[in-house]
Amino acid sequence: KESQAEKFLQQHMDPDTSTVTSSYCNEMMKHRNRTVGFCKPVITFIHQPLPDVQVICFQGNVRCKNGQSNCHQSSSKMRITDCRLKKGSKYPKCDYKTQQLQKSIIVACECVQYETVHFDGSV
Ligand code: A3P
Repeated sequence: KESQAEKFLQQHMDPDTSTVTSSYCNEMMKHRNRTVGFCKPVITFIHQPLPDVQVICFQGNVRCKNGQSNCHQSSSKMRITDCRLKKGSKYPKCDYKTQQLQKSIIVACECVQYETVHFDGSV
């Protein structure tokens, strides 16, 4: 079974995409997040090299949305793409709106290696 850290990489990391088209989210949600059973309402992909994301675990500590205290906010803005399910989209036809943003991101970090395990938001 994949670890939480591996799941984070496969769900949120996309460092190599330089051009994001309007069909980006529909393609990525199908290939990466394997939308099975239901359409995941929101997901964010991060277009930055992995080390840029890993160091966020050593940047500003903030409270997570779930009340835990292991979240960290990036000190610099990151190139991200927000994928949001369009209203009226019904499983199995998951139809997403693709929005490119440049924002500071918040991730949860865990364990000895201090790995990113969860995407908490962007601000
Ligand atoms: P599950 O995938 O097991 O439900 P996301 O998909 O938003 O990146 O979240 C990945 C996982 O991290 C989710 O678990 C979520 O519940 C979990 N998570 C949420 N807040 C967390 C926190 N503060 N620390 C660790 N894990 C958290």
